[in-house]
Amino acid sequence: MIPSIRPLGLLPLLMFSTGSFSQLNGIDIRDKMEEMEHILVDNNGANSDGFVNAVSPCSSYVGRNGPDSGEQSSAQWVRFVFHDSVTANLAAGTGGIDASLGFESDRNENLGLFVNDTLRFMAATVSAYLSMADNIALGLVASLAECGGTTTGVPLRVGRIDAEEAGPAGVPEPTTDLETTLAQFAAAGFNKSETIALTACGHSLGRMHYSNFPDIGNYTFLNKILQSKSDSSVSLVKWLMLLQSIDGGVGFDATPAIFDNNVVTEYLGGTGQQGGLLVTAGNVSDRSDFRLYVSDNNATMQSLSVEATFQSQCNSLFERMINTVPSAVTLSDPVVPMTWKGVDLGLDISSAGAVSIAGFIRNLYYSVAPPSVVYYDTTTSDNVTSAVQVTAAASAYGTSIFGYTIYYGFNSTIASPGTNSLNFEGISYPVNDEIFILPTQSTSSQSSFVLKAAALTSLTQGLGSMTGVLYVPERQQGSASPKITNTTVEMTAYATAGNYTLFVSGSVPVSSGPGSRGVVAKVLLGDAASRTVKSDLFQQE
Ligand code: HEM
Ligand SMILES: *[C@@H]1O[C@H](CO)[C@@H](O)[C@H](O)[C@H]1NC(C)=O
Ligand SMILES: *[C@@H]1O[C@H](CO)[C@@H](O)[C@H](O)[C@H]1NC(C)=O
Ligand SMILES: *[C@@H]1O[C@H](CO)[C@@H](O)[C@H](O)[C@H]1NC(C)=O
Ligand SMILES: *[C@@H]1O[C@H](CO)[C@@H](O)[C@H](O)[C@H]1NC(C)=O
Ligand SMILES: *[C@@H]1O[C@H](CO)[C@@H](O)[C@H](O)[C@H]1NC(C)=O
Ligand SMILES: *[C@@H]1O[C@H](CO)[C@@H](O)[C@H](O)[C@H]1NC(C)=O
Ligand SMILES: *[C@@H]1O[C@H](CO)[C@@H](O)[C@H](O)[C@H]1NC(C)=O
Ligand SMILES: *[C@@H]1O[C@H](CO)[C@@H](O)[C@H](O)[C@H]1NC(C)=O
Ligand SMILES: *[C@@H]1O[C@H](CO)[C@@H](O)[C@H](O)[C@H]1NC(C)=O
Repeated sequence: MIPSIRPLGLLPLLMFSTGSFSQLNGIDIRDKMEEMEHILVDNNGANSDGFVNAVSPCSSYVGRNGPDSGEQSSAQWVRFVFHDSVTANLAAGTGGIDASLGFESDRNENLGLFVNDTLRFMAATVSAYLSMADNIALGLVASLAECGGTTTGVPLRVGRIDAEEAGPAGVPEPTTDLETTLAQFAAAGFNKSETIALTACGHSLGRMHYSNFPDIGNYTFLNKILQSKSDSSVSLVKWLMLLQSIDGGVGFDATPAIFDNNVVTEYLGGTGQQGGLLVTAGNVSDRSDFRLYVSDNNATMQSLSVEATFQSQCNSLFERMINTVPSAVTLSDPVVPMTWKGVDLGLDISSAGAVSIAGFIRNLYYSVAPPSVVYYDTTTSDNVTSAVQVTAAASAYGTSIFGYTIYYGFNSTIASPGTNSLNFEGISYPVNDEIFILPTQSTSSQSSFVLKAAALTSLTQGLGSMTGVLYVPERQQGSASPKITNTTVEMTAYATAGNYTLFVSGSVPVSSGPGSRGVVAKVLLGDAASRTVKSDLFQQE
């Protein structure tokens, strides 16, 4: 089933050259970009984590509350971006999208299920490659893609770093006065008209929830029944049915599951929800959206009454919001859907010392039919290219908001030592056959790992043991977001195979939150480091 296909015409081809790759927290930026691309593109079927599909359709809810609670994951994810970023202080270079909101869910200004619902869902895709803060940015892009916005309007970059503690408070609330609200947004980098627009953009999706703000809005009929709850004629069941009849909340506009400018046109025209409860609240002190919208005599709202303007303004403001990060963070170039990419690349070695490379080549296509096989080769550091190799026939398939995906498995022996790249369809992946993890010989279970790796015997001269590094998402105090902890382990030589020495670790216990998911490994020998691999490729025990 393909929920939504929006053809892009020509898919841009992401090109990389082999050579030097900058690192971030010990992980190549390219690996981070490819992981982000994977979560964004592999939506359904083979190799999917189900991230984008969780907000398809836009009205879906993947949190823990009941189905009729008026919760909508896409709206929660967009609201998360606002609450995490608006406490940034640009001048000081602090705050922004850093998932510090995870430590702040008990604050009154962050009332609701959205913080922990979001973190619990996204915990599954947190790894050393992709921080929770990067997942949060991805969540906004996924929501726009599934809610009627565009798939490509907000460029997505990777590299955000998760905070390890709460940040300052200051998220504006319904009763916050205009001056304080504008000052808070200004410190986070948004002027008055941008603040008005951002708020209208956000309030295109989702609802005010009765459970969070029972006093705002016209819940007279519910309150009456609540007061008479002791009256046996009104059962709790009946009360719950009534609560469900308003779906747990009231939309800011008539289309809370469509990203459109109805919130603007209904406000200006006095139709539908008239801009929502933060415009119409009975108590004027709760009318924060009204105070904002009229603060420039409705000029910004009027400018957003053209749908195309609304979409482009919101895209550019949302982009700035997800790219508001602490000054120590460097974001990557935009992550672009890749027509061709290598997936789950890994090396192995035979007992005789023959090194093989295996994995999958993924083709993302929409209008150009995929080939029946893919040709590839490998190149050595002295520029000797191998004979042309051919993949197996396609063996796995998926769907994407960008088209369709198809996977071709491959496995070839490479010239070793010396091979440094894998090439197909004009792109190259770096290969390190001097020091590498043996994923198919390493093992993982819920609670422990055994790493195996190989290194050129000549590299080991004069050096002691090899060091294994596991980047493990672990539960942490105070936030529902996992924290990546690195565990290092000494590995000892146990055999030789041709030009290589083989190393093994003891059993490494990990107290990983969601089983062994999201664990990334690499090995180090003196100054030499292997490429990283996901423990998903290990033998599962
Ligand atoms: C002065 C500024 C703002 C105030 C006072 C404000 C206040 C609120 C309140 C009280 C709710 C209801 C929450 C609930 O009952 O669960 C809400 C919902 C929401 N807000 Fe805002 N907001 C502001 C700006 C923004 C901005 C800038 C964005 C995004 C860029 C945003 C996105 C959302 C979304 C998506 C929801 C719906 C959440 C859901 O359905 O779960 N808000 N806001
Ligand atoms: C492991 O984590 C520590 C502390 O965050 C950091 O200083 C160190 O560089 C990390 N080691 C590796 C190999 O990533
Ligand atoms: C706010 O910034 C926008 C650019 O995003 C600019 O056009 C506008 O004039 C600024 N408004 C104010 C009140 O400074
Ligand atoms: C509130 O709702 C009640 C019952 O639906 C209705 O009679 C009343 O007019 C509403 N009040 C306002 C201010 O909208
Ligand atoms: C702004 O628009 C609202 C909604 O249409 C209206 O009630 C209000 O009077 C307008 N205010 C100004 C200053 O134009
Ligand atoms: C309106 O809200 C303000 C601020 O929350 C509160 O002090 C006041 O009592 C409320 N007024 C009414 C009539 O409920
Ligand atoms: C390639 O295939 C051989 C033979 O089945 C296997 O032993 C080896 O582990 C495979 N290579 C990789 C990197 O998985
Ligand atoms: C291999 O090719 C690269 C790029 O063309 C070049 O920079 C390098 O000098 C070549 N190396 C050798 C050993 O020929
Ligand atoms: C969210 O989860 C954290 C950590 O698990 C917990 O401390 C916090 O109280 C939760 N917040 C809410 C609002 O449930
Ligand atoms: C060891 O490496 C040399 C080149 O450095 C190569 O000629 C030889 O074939 C390799 N041996 C094995 C067993 O791969």
